[in-house]
Amino acid sequence: MPNERLATLIPLPQHVEQRSGELVLRSPVGVAADGGAAAVANLLCVELSRATGLRFEFADAAAAQIVLRTEAGDSEHYRLEVDAQRAVISAPSVGLIHGVYTLRQLLPAANWRSAPLPGVTWSAPACVVEDRPRFGWRGCMIDVTRHFAAKQTILRFIDLLAMHRMNRLHLHLSDDQGWRVEIKAFPRLTEIASHRPHTGLGFATSPNDPNDGTPHGGYYTQDDLREIVAYAAARGIMVIPEIDLPGHSRALTAAYPEFGCFPDKTVEVGTYFGISSDLVNPLPHTIAALETILDELLAIFPAPWIHLGGDEAPLDPWRNSPAIRAHMASLGVESAEAMRTWFTAHFAEFLAARGRRLIGWDEIIHYGGLAPDSAIMSWRGEKGGMKAAAAGYDVVMAPVFPTYFDYAQSDSADEPLAIGQSITLEDVYAYEPSAHWNDKSTFSKVLGVQCQLWREVILDDAHLEYMAFPRVCALAEVAWSEQRSDFDAFRARLAHHLERLDHYGVNYRPLEGPRPWQKGGTGRKAYQMRFNIKEALAWLDNWAESGEPPL
Ligand code: ACM
Repeated sequence: MPNERLATLIPLPQHVEQRSGELVLRSPVGVAADGGAAAVANLLCVELSRATGLRFEFADAAAAQIVLRTEAGDSEHYRLEVDAQRAVISAPSVGLIHGVYTLRQLLPAANWRSAPLPGVTWSAPACVVEDRPRFGWRGCMIDVTRHFAAKQTILRFIDLLAMHRMNRLHLHLSDDQGWRVEIKAFPRLTEIASHRPHTGLGFATSPNDPNDGTPHGGYYTQDDLREIVAYAAARGIMVIPEIDLPGHSRALTAAYPEFGCFPDKTVEVGTYFGISSDLVNPLPHTIAALETILDELLAIFPAPWIHLGGDEAPLDPWRNSPAIRAHMASLGVESAEAMRTWFTAHFAEFLAARGRRLIGWDEIIHYGGLAPDSAIMSWRGEKGGMKAAAAGYDVVMAPVFPTYFDYAQSDSADEPLAIGQSITLEDVYAYEPSAHWNDKSTFSKVLGVQCQLWREVILDDAHLEYMAFPRVCALAEVAWSEQRSDFDAFRARLAHHLERLDHYGVNYRPLEGPRPWQKGGTGRKAYQMRFNIKEALAWLDNWAESGEPPL
């Protein structure tokens, strides 16, 4: 009889072998850890003592019920062996974290609570799990600009990503509708650019569209972000910051009009959505300011990757500005396109000089200017990724279909507000990043996959969790598991896995459809079909060969 917990691990490990018997944790639970495992052991003791009420204490390996053994290297593989006496996890230190999360999936799902329930036996089935990820980049992007996520929401989300062995959190920190990071050299970014007086309803694209009449905003202090980075790192997750340049810069230029293209225009933080012409200018004083901003950012985020956006930037403002034209002439740059190449090259070099790598949305491959170690996030389908990989760049696959989790999870009008219809759980699970790759030899440049939670129409925390889960569970398996099951088997495993999310209190979408209170109703979250996914994909595919959006 297969053990239920062992049979419902998500993401599916590479190798699982059930043995007979079980381990029952009893107070005091001895934990043995060598020096390299001390931080992981500490995390395990803190989180499991809180959830189980058992006392955890450090012990010699011979007496311990949980043993963490550090291997050399930085690989994410791990081996977990459970017998009636102990659970032993052997791995390089980042692999140890994944081993701990697998052990937690073997324990009763109530270990995802914040305080103990009475009467739970803290048992885990005897087994051997040998595991390693398929991809090194298993990412999730959260847009905290269109709707802000409080620090506690991000910390909670990190717990959920770690539970699924996801290892990259990409924070989209700047956009037309808000600037979300404290920059000490430019205080108006938080005084002015971090909030807006109201938000257009639905996917509003004009200031004349109806709005909610409610101010919205927020930002993270540098210490908030340091806390987020450390919390994530302890759970095996790297946080990648994004400052979107040169487009999507309305909030930035509302705070500092001198960095925009129209010094005489009154720019206000965006209250509606779509592609805007509020680019930063590429003039020396702006480039210097952006460098100062990036230097502050680099001091917060230790990640080797810095995301500089690069999407949806119509270049007419650069073409039409006399000051920019004069500057281009002084540089001998002959077109706005060539100026974009210069812009990317400048910041790729700036980051390289500081030991970091530039990553950006796939428009940047069109203009060039990348450093050899720059990377591309392929969002307008997969062509950009293939082109970048063929040119030797690393690639993260983030195509709208099926990784944009702001699309509805079904075609039913019961779904709450979404950007369009639909990307189902099955669509996500069926995603095979290599399927359309004509030249399989360049697929080795694919670092991994990432889901996107754009938040124009994801209004609050409950809505965010609803859109994310359980699709993140499916993407985690696409990203982690070399061998996937068929969808029906995944769905059966997931039905049990959702109990883990229940204990944590996640507002996921049940497999049968939204609960009554999760439906869109007729109010603010009423379902709208702004983009039909097929039409959106055709439009993106048409655009994918070029840089500027076909407005
Ligand atoms: C994007 O969706 N504009 C990257």
